[in-house]
Amino acid sequence: AGGVFQTLSTPSGTAKAATAAGAPAVTPFAVPLPVPKVLKPYLRTGTTDFYTVTMSRTSHEILPGRRTDVLTYNGSFPGPTIRARSGRTAVVKQINALEMPTSVHLHGGNNPVAHDGGMMDTIAPGRSRTYVYANKQPGATLWTHDHAHHMESEHVYRGLSGLYLLGDAAEDRLGMPSGAYEVPLILRDAQFDDTGAMVYTMDDAFNRTTIMVNGRPWPYMKVQGRKYRFRMLNSSNLRIFILRLSDGSQMTQIGSDGGLLPAPAPAPVLVLSPGERADFVIDFAQYAPGTQLVLENLIGPGPVEQVGKVMRFDVGEKVADPSRVPDVLTTLPALAKPTVERTFELQMDEPETGGHQAYINGKTFDAKRIDTEIRWGTTELWTVTNKSATIPHNFHTHLVQFRILERDGQPVYPAEAGWKDTVLLFPGQTVKLQLTFDSHRGVFPYHCHMIDHSAMGMMAHMKIT
Ligand code: C2O
Ligand code: CU
Ligand code: CU
Repeated sequence: AGGVFQTLSTPSGTAKAATAAGAPAVTPFAVPLPVPKVLKPYLRTGTTDFYTVTMSRTSHEILPGRRTDVLTYNGSFPGPTIRARSGRTAVVKQINALEMPTSVHLHGGNNPVAHDGGMMDTIAPGRSRTYVYANKQPGATLWTHDHAHHMESEHVYRGLSGLYLLGDAAEDRLGMPSGAYEVPLILRDAQFDDTGAMVYTMDDAFNRTTIMVNGRPWPYMKVQGRKYRFRMLNSSNLRIFILRLSDGSQMTQIGSDGGLLPAPAPAPVLVLSPGERADFVIDFAQYAPGTQLVLENLIGPGPVEQVGKVMRFDVGEKVADPSRVPDVLTTLPALAKPTVERTFELQMDEPETGGHQAYINGKTFDAKRIDTEIRWGTTELWTVTNKSATIPHNFHTHLVQFRILERDGQPVYPAEAGWKDTVLLFPGQTVKLQLTFDSHRGVFPYHCHMIDHSAMGMMAHMKIT
């Protein structure tokens, strides 16, 4: 782990390290954790739920006592949660009431090109677009976010981001904590100036040192002495989190990006790079009422008194807890043997060169170029390497959930062995991924999800025919 921390003390970014001197001071654990509203369908039929979302600019109280201008889905920061069901179609009409083009991508979803929210497939200001999600995939923690080319990174930073929780009947039967005991935790960072405005500087990892959960800085959450299920997303542009509980006790990870793990995995830490999700359970019955547990973050960049903590759980009285976390959660299908092998190298200009380009296999993104031609129905083995000397990257594929076979020649931990669509690569690391392309055909992107990097060109196109 020492190596990891060393590496991460040199983050991506060309901005000079600075303390966020202008930012208003925020006392940690002073605001309660909000929970994003669940969006109600305006119509439900036997097969389909219909939703409307308006993208607009509003102002919000993020820092106590200040107003911050943000971009929102339906006026909320982060956006409302859509609760969809596997096997039921969700039709989401997105109205763009902003003054710039947007595109709405369902991250982790398996959708045809026309409904994937491509970079160039944007919604003009004043227009709307109806996305249809068939939800033909198991329950998972998915994410809707903006994907308009070259603008996605600032749009997501300013708030075009919301959870999409896909549930299914098999998962319901497990009897895990639900209702008020199943809580989204959307983590991210940001930089604020002395007026409370959010500051966006492309690829500035150093100055985004205010840590937020569900849109508020360093919140606290009152919990009862029982089990809670947390649906966690790292929606940061660049920040990686390595999270642990302040008393050192383990959490129980039950799911990753694309759904449940085969079995609960004890998790002393949770590692989440931008775009990754963790579904996990904490049993607060093991703590005396009055215990305060801090969710700590073990890596930078930033002053440890700011970025070293995330939120606090304030444990209350023990209560009856009928929920369970069964030993078997799901079965993962055996994968077909790969018949095609490819390699991908992630690289970007190092800060000292002053360059501002990022590359996959030596090329920056070109919307008109097809980088990878794939025959429909094949299973492939992709070897992905982070060639940067100091900068972490990750690798995200649209359309498919993959499996990580190994990292640097070693099998991955159980928490990483389930369905994934985003995988973290520290500098110099190599992962082997297995992917099967047996759903939609067409042109889809894959990219680094340190989203400032994809805006700088670390993105490419695959074509499935
Ligand atoms: Cu989360 Cu191409 O995106
Ligand atoms: Cu995606
Ligand atoms: Cu990157």
